[in-house]
Amino acid sequence: MSDATTPLRRAEADVPFPVSGPCERASIAPYCQRVRMMMSEERFAHVLRVAALAETIAIANDFDRGERRATSLAAVLHDVARDLPVERLMELAPPEHAMEREHPLALHGRAGRAIAIAWGVTDGRGLDAIEQHVCGPRPGERVAMAVYIADVSEPGRGVNGDVRELAMRDLDRAYRRALANKVRYLRSHGKTVHPRTLKVHEALEDQPT
Ligand SMILES: [Fe+2]
Ligand SMILES: [Fe+2]
Repeated sequence: MSDATTPLRRAEADVPFPVSGPCERASIAPYCQRVRMMMSEERFAHVLRVAALAETIAIANDFDRGERRATSLAAVLHDVARDLPVERLMELAPPEHAMEREHPLALHGRAGRAIAIAWGVTDGRGLDAIEQHVCGPRPGERVAMAVYIADVSEPGRGVNGDVRELAMRDLDRAYRRALANKVRYLRSHGKTVHPRTLKVHEALEDQPT
């Protein structure tokens, strides 16, 4: 597993990637290479699909150049901490309340943000997107919403195809639907909903999905 805290070197970008998307570009490929070393092949395949879809969503919603770059890079990095051992997650992102202590996997967004910073990422929109992909971003944060939607609706998930389609024409509504689906799924499986997710969901509950 790669050292999560050393700066990225461009020389790490020497292996081509099998699907089209942001990882084909020289400015993003070094991050893809580093991410690839930190997770299983299956999870990396998920990351590639999320990155390709997030970029498509960004283009469909007329994101400007800066937003597009932030979206693509955040999508590549969103699960960078997902396979780290619990102790490392806790070091990078100390739990803030009981729910996070009981479910340390919920820390992988905040831990991912810490790794992205260590790797030289500075765009706050991208960093927020990495952190918030676990619990759901605040409405209106377009970069984070695109990454969140891409994460829950990439084709490999086999669910949320309608959310993926809706995101091409109505990002806000697609996000509300994605979040509502997540909350419904967690509740129906008796799982704890993160307090931040609940807060965002309740704020959006009376709007159409
Ligand atoms: Fe994740
Ligand atoms: Fe993911």
